[in-house]
Amino acid sequence: MTETRNAALDSTTPMEAPHTAGGNSVDRFYKPSDEIVEQANVTAYMRSKGFQTYEELYNWSIANLQEFWTDQARELSWFEPWQKVLDDSQAPFYKWFVGAKTNIVYNAIDRHVNTWRRNKLALIWEGEDGSQRTFSYHTLNREVSRIANVLKSMGVRKGDIVTIYLPRIPELPLTMLACAKIGAAHSVVYGGFSVEALADRIDDAGSKVLITADGGYMRGKIIELKKIADEAMARTPTLQTCIVVKHTGHEVTMENTRDLWLHDLLSLPIASPVCPTEPVDAEDTLFILYTSGTTGRPKGVVHTHGGYMVGTYTTLKFVFDLKEEDRWWCAADPGWITGHSYIVYSPLVAGATSFMYEGAPNYPYPDRWWSLIARHAITVLYTAPTAIRGLMRFGEAWPNRHDLSSLRLLGTVGEPINPEAWRWYHRVIGGERCPIMDTWWQTETGHFMITPTPITPLKPGSATRAFLGIDVDVVHEDGSPCAANEDGLLVVKQPWPGMMRTILNDPERYVTTYWDKEPAGMYTVGDSARKDDDGYIWIIGRLDDVIKVSGYRLGTAEVESALVSHPAVAEAAAIGLPHEVKGNAIHAFVILREGFAGSPHLEDELKAHVGHEMGPIARPEKIDFVASLPKTRSGKIMRRVLKAQALGQDVGDISTLEA
Ligand code: WTA
Repeated sequence: MTETRNAALDSTTPMEAPHTAGGNSVDRFYKPSDEIVEQANVTAYMRSKGFQTYEELYNWSIANLQEFWTDQARELSWFEPWQKVLDDSQAPFYKWFVGAKTNIVYNAIDRHVNTWRRNKLALIWEGEDGSQRTFSYHTLNREVSRIANVLKSMGVRKGDIVTIYLPRIPELPLTMLACAKIGAAHSVVYGGFSVEALADRIDDAGSKVLITADGGYMRGKIIELKKIADEAMARTPTLQTCIVVKHTGHEVTMENTRDLWLHDLLSLPIASPVCPTEPVDAEDTLFILYTSGTTGRPKGVVHTHGGYMVGTYTTLKFVFDLKEEDRWWCAADPGWITGHSYIVYSPLVAGATSFMYEGAPNYPYPDRWWSLIARHAITVLYTAPTAIRGLMRFGEAWPNRHDLSSLRLLGTVGEPINPEAWRWYHRVIGGERCPIMDTWWQTETGHFMITPTPITPLKPGSATRAFLGIDVDVVHEDGSPCAANEDGLLVVKQPWPGMMRTILNDPERYVTTYWDKEPAGMYTVGDSARKDDDGYIWIIGRLDDVIKVSGYRLGTAEVESALVSHPAVAEAAAIGLPHEVKGNAIHAFVILREGFAGSPHLEDELKAHVGHEMGPIARPEKIDFVASLPKTRSGKIMRRVLKAQALGQDVGDISTLEA
């Protein structure tokens, strides 16, 4: 593998890529070296199926969807085999590996503990203060089992949803795995969210147990998670027990009958390091993850054990090409889907060594990440465009101080990557030898959908083409395919194993949001896209009211609801405007109640209020006080008009605007 590192990348033409995603005249391909192609997992699979090119393999995988996914599922352990690979009789409520019994935790931990991998490192963690904790598969098994026994002793069972609200510390994956091990579902709420966001999610899930910590570190400061949780718990009647991880050690209030320290529970005899993994149905719920949508409250996206396990494992294996000796670093937060799928579950299922870092990329200096790569000999790095752009600003001298030669592959996710950031990442971080896997997917899809593999010729800014077994297209509203270079709707035309199964408590909304819209019968993604002459897909952006701030997905509705919960605010509208580092920043428009007047002071107060209710990522960059908002005759705020006005663009068709 190391021999591949100096291989020169071949540029077929000297033409430059355009600077915006969505371009269609890119003639410059970055081709992988022969060495990379030769050693890739996907090459081995392609040859084992008797194909010479990826194109042939892809076409076969779409025509033989079930055989493709069955090949992958056979590499994993099942307590009982499936009777049917795919059940589409109640579409769009698809079922995968029907009748099979398994548990993703059995595949993530138990099956490795029975092999030489018991002594392999599963997880290496570094805290912001430089402290380190490591877990072999054996110690991971013990720690997860101990927590699982604690949860069991509290009566947590299959069918329960445990809410987890933790900083980026090992207890986050440990508690997720402990829930799944006993067949309970988890609902992780991102540690950067705040009171209202947490309370809403606990409420919707009906959680009786919350797992949190005293606090977490971010840039040397303590984020007071327990204090936020206390406020949220006061608003949630279902909650009975709060388990608290001691991390920062600062003083917190513990309520006598409700709050328990995890370390106290783990010192009890019930916390034995042996806990059998519960066999569950392939279609049993593994987790709920809330995500923002077009309207109203966040949606509880439901994922299950079997299909999700097969989908995440297969994509990691072929896209990031994981080998036994790799050190994989997915720098996302486990509280988002990227972390669920590619920090917690699939790397463990693949038996890999995963690295996790607690803090900010530029703390205490802008080379923190680069020093981590050198010190831990990271071989594959997966991050978001916003982080790349943020670190790029500090200049090349910071990464150049460190030996990054261990890297062999890079990745990005969350939003379109601008070609300038792509090329910087490729040249400065990847030393021009590491292909970049630009992976397009969603909370709802569970795993990568449009992505290169290491053997794909790349174009900066394009996530290239659909993954094996994934049938995506760009179409008109009537479902007919768009011509090359024509903008259209991104859709998925056939089911895939890691797809969401429903929205918790709202199956109706699952159907109307994703399946009933034009074009009917296809999964509508909510993104617009275009295919170029080579069939490469360029994501243009969201068609709905989702704003991607630093790659984090926020709904305008949630930000607006936080704003109107302030006594001065009568009405609010939020939009996303382009931002150099964050991709998008939130810009809010507010109509004040009688008796209040707009001022810089009130603007600051409202920003702080949103930060307190939703979390720092949702804090608007700018708030404008306005007398009215553009609305349709039915009273819907036309955010499109606000956006066009803010950008100084033509406002387009406003025939439905209120007179
Ligand atoms: C956007 C994150 C362009 C897209 C895994 C999608 C991307 C939404 C990419 C899902 C990419 C994600 N290129 N856009 N590589 N990856 N997106 O649910 O708009 O947080 O619909 O999942 O992010 O966001 P989510």
